[in-house]
Amino acid sequence: MGKVYYISKNVGLGMLVLAAIALATIVALSIAYDKERAKNHGKPGEGTDSTSTSTPPTTDFTPKEPWDHYRLPHSLVPVSYNVTLWPRLEPNTDGLYIFTGHSTVIFKCVKGTDLILIHSNKLNLTTFQGHHAKLSRLNGAPAPAIRRSWLEEKTEYLVLQLHSSLAVGASYVLHTEFRGELADDLEGLYRSEYTELGVKKVVATSQMQATYARKTFPCFDEPAMKAVFSVTILHSHGTVALSNGREMDTTDAVIDGVQVKVTTFEPTKRMSTYLLAFIVSDFDSIQSNQNHNLLIRIWARKRAIDDKQGDYALNVTGPILQFYEHYYNASYPLSKSDQVALPDFNAGAMENWGLVTYRETALLYDPVLSSTGNKERVTTVISHELAHMWFGNLVTLQWWNDLWLNEGFASYVEYLGADYAEPTWNMKDQIILYDVHKVFAVDALASSHPLSPREEEVNTPAQISEMFNTISYSKGAAVLRMLSDFLTEPVFVRGLSSYLNTFAFGNTVYTDLWDHLQQAVENTPHMSIPDTVHNIMHRWTLQMGFPVVTVDTKTGTISQKHFLLDPESVVERPSQFNYTWFVPIKWMKSGVEQQQYWLLQRTGLGAAEHNMSGYFRVNYDLDNWDRLLSLLNTNHKALSVINRAQIVDDAFNLARAKIISTTLALRTTQYLSKERDYIPWESALRNLNYYILMFDRTEVYGALQAYLRKQIQPLFEHFKTITDNWTKVPAGHTDQYNQINAIAIACNTGVESCRELITSWYRQWMENPGHNPIHSNLKSTVYCRAVAFGGVDEWEFAWAMFKNATLASEASRLRSAMACTKIPWLLNRYLDYTLDPTKIRKQDATSTIQYIAENVVGMPLAWNFIRARWSYIFQQYGKGSFSFSSLVSGVTKRFSTEFELQELKKFKEDNLHVGFGSATLALEQAIEKTTANIKWLTENKANVLKWFTEST
Ligand SMILES: *[C@@H]1O[C@H](CO)[C@@H](O)[C@H](O)[C@H]1NC(C)=O
Ligand SMILES: *[C@@H]1O[C@H](CO)[C@@H](O)[C@H](O)[C@H]1NC(C)=O
Ligand SMILES: *[C@@H]1O[C@H](CO)[C@@H](O)[C@H](O)[C@H]1NC(C)=O
Ligand SMILES: *[C@@H]1O[C@H](CO)[C@@H](O)[C@H](O)[C@H]1NC(C)=O
Ligand SMILES: *[C@@H]1O[C@H](CO)[C@@H](O)[C@H](O)[C@H]1NC(C)=O
Ligand SMILES: [Zn+2]
Repeated sequence: MGKVYYISKNVGLGMLVLAAIALATIVALSIAYDKERAKNHGKPGEGTDSTSTSTPPTTDFTPKEPWDHYRLPHSLVPVSYNVTLWPRLEPNTDGLYIFTGHSTVIFKCVKGTDLILIHSNKLNLTTFQGHHAKLSRLNGAPAPAIRRSWLEEKTEYLVLQLHSSLAVGASYVLHTEFRGELADDLEGLYRSEYTELGVKKVVATSQMQATYARKTFPCFDEPAMKAVFSVTILHSHGTVALSNGREMDTTDAVIDGVQVKVTTFEPTKRMSTYLLAFIVSDFDSIQSNQNHNLLIRIWARKRAIDDKQGDYALNVTGPILQFYEHYYNASYPLSKSDQVALPDFNAGAMENWGLVTYRETALLYDPVLSSTGNKERVTTVISHELAHMWFGNLVTLQWWNDLWLNEGFASYVEYLGADYAEPTWNMKDQIILYDVHKVFAVDALASSHPLSPREEEVNTPAQISEMFNTISYSKGAAVLRMLSDFLTEPVFVRGLSSYLNTFAFGNTVYTDLWDHLQQAVENTPHMSIPDTVHNIMHRWTLQMGFPVVTVDTKTGTISQKHFLLDPESVVERPSQFNYTWFVPIKWMKSGVEQQQYWLLQRTGLGAAEHNMSGYFRVNYDLDNWDRLLSLLNTNHKALSVINRAQIVDDAFNLARAKIISTTLALRTTQYLSKERDYIPWESALRNLNYYILMFDRTEVYGALQAYLRKQIQPLFEHFKTITDNWTKVPAGHTDQYNQINAIAIACNTGVESCRELITSWYRQWMENPGHNPIHSNLKSTVYCRAVAFGGVDEWEFAWAMFKNATLASEASRLRSAMACTKIPWLLNRYLDYTLDPTKIRKQDATSTIQYIAENVVGMPLAWNFIRARWSYIFQQYGKGSFSFSSLVSGVTKRFSTEFELQELKKFKEDNLHVGFGSATLALEQAIEKTTANIKWLTENKANVLKWFTEST
């Protein structure tokens, strides 16, 4: 192990003054950090903001025939494939973009059967003597003849019934020829388009996770059906073909009278179908060999490469790969690493083995035009994807029910990789904001679900899609981080490395990792944990939710209880562990870490001072809360930045759960006028955002704004001063983020000089579009406010700049800024644009609707829009799209009246026949949340109005 991280994210929760002794710090380790930090960052791989949960199986009939089951039988296992694909980048005479191909798979029969089931979806198969495939025996002996063959659409199979049984132990060869549409549907092998120098360009690219390889060629499309793939791609002159393996050879040929290039790739390692990738484009690349002759390349549009937008990604890839080689104690298993930025991509990024694909915003960075936030995103997404090259790709989970381990793991270690690449950024601190707090919010609902569903609960493609949710990513990351912390990192990585080396090129279930970690514990002298890794972790993975740990400083007792945001909600799902956890608590005495303490039951007796680490919230007795508040107000720097952020977040959430009062939570924001650090501010703003959403259509809003204005003004002035009247950029990484907060909130709450500043910057830009005076860090904020303050001209200018943008992240900020206008007809027209892919790319449609819904004026328009066009929207995005469930949760976020609840219920009823696809649970959650919001408003509105009024 080269670099060892001591993860002492002993995130302070507060100070606790005990009777006899001086000070004790209760420190809850920040634990959860997922990857879905950016809204439209959704993917199998990098998920959206979806808060959906997995559905129980909804089998409406009992499957009788093998082909009615979504899972493959265990009779045949693939060994290797030869796949040839020819995507056409020009439409045929019918105006259709297509691809053709043929594939040969060698498979072994391990259990006698006269039936071959192989996945195939939306492919037109050539028939040979009336059958959809040709079967032979590998050794030349005769194979059973095909009796009947057909395509089973529902379960996505090609079914071949044979005249006699296949022989156990024998290997067979199945050949298919097929033709499919190269659609712009972002699934399987698909088409992406863009315009460069006025010329329309077409790219063929692919997204296989989770179940789209079968839409590209017939294959045994389950993650455990690993095989070796030898790929050949036919493509036209002037284009380059890429796949998982390194290109071996390119020759010219004439096929069907067409001149083509034939590129063959080295056979892959033994791998899963969902990690395959095929790309044909005229992209350019840059490369380096700095990692021991490993070929590292970044591919993108020519213009982007010319503009050096790929340089930063190339710079960090080598170091991040080296970091993981050390961390996993396993060398990079392939001979090359390609990363490609695509103009159209549904997810944020996808970890195809050796050929990782990204949205442009997740890979490209322009030193002049990109913001600090853009740069951080590039670093963390690359770090996340490269983590999968081992964890996920080399060793793969048996089935999708264990997805949380794959995604949770990558979401955890991405911070370690990013920290290695950018040591000055304090990446490991950011974890608490982007992940812990976020998943706490979802996992505190009665409708949450355990990390690890049973294998039988996840069958259909839609159920698999639903696994890509915040719980899998963020809670997965949280509990793995807690595990790494209480085992200590050296022990954790020893177990991890042993797991990866044992199961290389194979498949596992998540308890295999626990086995190896347990061995690592047993091989460590003097290491002791209160129970096995299995027994400790089962409580975190098999039951939903997390505890709130209450510390009574008077008696020294600590106790735990299942934390629920709505204390009246009924948890229908019983837990075999009765909602208690093994809670690792660390003690800190006068700033010195003491031996670990475990809270194993509902209550325990603690000694003097505690320092906790884990995935849980902390509450205190009221006296201690008062001491904390007074410390914040008199000397907030006595608490660490993370402590301050955590106090605020815990207080607001404990208040939502009625464990403490709402005014106690609000009081934690009083010291903010003195706060200059980003993390506490961001924590407070996120919590106050709930108040803004609930009140921005009510009389409370005036007082709320006045209070926020008072609190933000000093921060605004602070940044004005340290940036020499906004001409410079603050030096610190997170200070740059807080400058953005200062401007955003100051403008939102009516600080007049903020409005002038923004308006004048934007006007200067409109007068001279070739010269944008706005610093890249501030662009998103400034564009949005300038459009909100402005009229039609400001909007049209943003639209023109959007159409012109050559950098994807610039286009993306303009796209969200246009949703900020307060002019209803502009918003309605913009909503219509989302239905026209020549105006708004399909990958961006649902997030654009969400941006509009965030605007208080746009919300009802967006709601009407999706209601009126539900069947169309559902048909376009509802099947496998990961941003789809966040569309429903996004648009209904403000819902807090009885009338809106009725509308929501009616919407559900009216569209039962259409369905809600991967948004099914998001809709249930929206109803649950709206109900809770109505209750909260009734109980708190008067108090909150009074408090804000008195505090201003
Ligand atoms: C795949 O192609 C290779 C190279 O042409 C050939 O040797 C091999 O027999 C083929 N395998 C199958 C199953 O057709
Ligand atoms: C596949 O066959 C169907 C039915 O004949 C046809 O409508 C469709 O266009 C075909 N697809 C391709 C890509 O040729
Ligand atoms: C990439 O690294 C080179 C060499 O260290 C450096 O000069 C360049 O500025 C870096 N590029 C970016 C975009 O960070
Ligand atoms: C579960 O918790 C409840 C409430 O604290 C308690 O009354 C009950 O005895 C517990 N049951 C078991 C099996 O531990
Ligand atoms: C600060 O900037 C504003 C707006 O750009 C400008 O009007 C003002 O004169 C500047 N003040 C100083 C002291 O530079
Ligand atoms: Zn991932």
